Amino acid sequence: MTRLTCEDTYLIKKRNLKNNYYSAVFRTYSRVDRCRPGQFVHIQIPCSDVYFRRAMSVAGVSVKRREIEVIFKVVGRGTHLLGDLHENDRINLLGPLGEAFRWPRKNETTLVVAGGVGFPPLMYLVTEMVKAGRDPRAIEFFYGGRSSTDLIERTRIKKLKVNFHPVTEDGSLGHKGLVTKPVEAFLNNNRGTRIRLYGCGPEGMLKAVNDLAIKFGIPGQISLEAPMPCGIGVCLGCVVPLTRGGHARVCREGPVFDIGEVAL
Ligand SMILES: Cc1cc2nc3c(=O)[nH]c(=O)nc-3n(C[C@H](O)[C@H](O)[C@H](O)COP(=O)(O)OP(=O)(O)OC[C@H]3O[C@@H](n4cnc5c(N)ncnc54)[C@H](O)[C@@H]3O)c2cc1C
Ligand code: FES
Repeated sequence: MTRLTCEDTYLIKKRNLKNNYYSAVFRTYSRVDRCRPGQFVHIQIPCSDVYFRRAMSVAGVSVKRREIEVIFKVVGRGTHLLGDLHENDRINLLGPLGEAFRWPRKNETTLVVAGGVGFPPLMYLVTEMVKAGRDPRAIEFFYGGRSSTDLIERTRIKKLKVNFHPVTEDGSLGHKGLVTKPVEAFLNNNRGTRIRLYGCGPEGMLKAVNDLAIKFGIPGQISLEAPMPCGIGVCLGCVVPLTRGGHARVCREGPVFDIGEVAL
């Protein structure tokens, strides 16, 4: 794990991405150069009656400008208060926390499966890969949601020139149905190709993605969410059972785990 910082930062840009999603960019994050895709920050909610910090995956960084971006959905009180922040508001971040994704080998096709709020860390991963010169044509980005309005920041993904596959349950954009269906079709059509899979999204989707990867013998990683009181491995509030027995802390050994590692 990287050394972490607990620091007051400033919100310098907030965008309403519609459908209760926001992007927030913070400045003066001294360890921004240490952030890696898959890691998260623990955000102190600026309100005395919200005691626990809220975990948010890093969605992107600018090392030059010392900026860090998170993208979040308003689901409860903490995220509602985050959505109410104004530019120049001060906010305390702890991080970067957790283990990052291991990158694919150069000869592997990257298969990304994102669902809902699982999108930000995977967008960060793919953005960094393309920035580092990886061929975007070897990256398949499947992004699932209930409806087209749930698939945020699509132009950012398209600009990377990766193979983008939107999937909606109501058929309003791309394939109709659950995201795992076209992913399974892709795996069926590409047997014999070296593929590495990355997944982040709701629990049911992650279980299905994990099962598919095992069925097709594909290596990869998934990023989990869990209730996260301390974020630094102390309280054991985030433990998940492992298939080999025992438990792991999502905040410390995770949030990124190998396919098949966690008993989902
Ligand atoms: C490592 C990690 C990375 C995350 N990254 C992002 C991100 O990039 N963008 C984003 O929008 N959200 C992300 N989350 C989820 C986010 O932390 C929760 O949505 C947030 O804590 C909810 O706070 P709240 O006060 O608004 O809601 P609460 O009032 O605490 O809860 C509202 C509802 O959301 C559920 N909930 C709360 N926390 C979680 C959680 N951690 N996982 C699943 N359900 C939860 C509650 O059970 C409840 O039903 C991440 C969580 C983890 C653990
Ligand atoms: S949140 Fe406390 S140990 Fe993980």
